[in-house]
Amino acid sequence: MSELVVPAQADAPAAGSDVMVRAEQVHKSFGPLEVLKGIDLEVRAGEVCCLLGPSGSGKSTFLRCINHLEKIDAGRIRVDGELIGYRERGGKLYELREREVAAQRRAIGMVFQRFNLFPHMTVLQNVVEAPVLLGQEKKAAARERAATLLDRVGLGDKLGAYPAQLSGGQQQRVAIARALAMRPKLMLFDEPTSALDPELVGEVLDVMKDLARDGMTMIVVTHEIGFAREVGDSLVFMDGGVVVEAGDPREVIANPRHERTRSFLAKVL
Ligand SMILES: Nc1ncnc2c1ncn2[C@@H]1O[C@H](COP(=O)(O)OP(=O)(O)OP(=O)(O)O)[C@@H](O)[C@H]1O
Ligand SMILES: [Mg+2]
Repeated sequence: MSELVVPAQADAPAAGSDVMVRAEQVHKSFGPLEVLKGIDLEVRAGEVCCLLGPSGSGKSTFLRCINHLEKIDAGRIRVDGELIGYRERGGKLYELREREVAAQRRAIGMVFQRFNLFPHMTVLQNVVEAPVLLGQEKKAAARERAATLLDRVGLGDKLGAYPAQLSGGQQQRVAIARALAMRPKLMLFDEPTSALDPELVGEVLDVMKDLARDGMTMIVVTHEIGFAREVGDSLVFMDGGVVVEAGDPREVIANPRHERTRSFLAKVL
């Protein structure tokens, strides 16, 4: 969004600011292929930002940059005021150590298209695993919290089941509970429903709606226009590695200003 003309080295203060994610001029190439060509984006705390765009436009790459699964070539990404992946000194960026990056990632939950659950663990163990392993919580407390989270995503009766015994929608809800177990301040979703049979999409979107209502800050890559319209606070349309258009989802969907947005929406609507 265009009001993001901040001096490149200003270390934005976290206190008093309710911006959760601020990306400025994020560039990313894979070899000769320039995938992100200067992405600016701002998501306020408690907002749901829906990211739309054609295949190959760089949506997944951008999400992966937000938790530094990809290094960026230029620009800055801040989450809750903290520069992600780098330390800045004298206008220069130095990449953080793996341990420091891991600490930043803990605050950022990510849910992918494929559920990536541990197949040899029960539903409960899948959710308990990370917080206990990382020493965030004692086992008993983690189990109790995991059970509460699983209940919240409608799986209170499946704690002892294995992933293979669940439907895709149920597995994806476990994946959401597992991400929430880390008490993230931001959740990133990359097409969380696109691998699901159509009749299972709704149950996952309902869990995400519930999360949004609860005030979770979310960036959601999705082709579910209904979700974007109903739940999104902002909609960002990307194409060719740039933000073509961004704004109120209802506004953008009803009155896309750019031809590229228009033709994309015509295809997915
Ligand atoms: N690790 C990688 N190495 C090389 N090229 C990559 C890599 N990851 C992504 N790309 C390329 O970057 C471009 C953007 O990919 P990306 O996955 O971000 O697109 P997308 O918008 O998420 O698309 P889709 O809707 O299909 O998921 C594509 O051309 C892709 O082939
Ligand atoms: Mg993708």
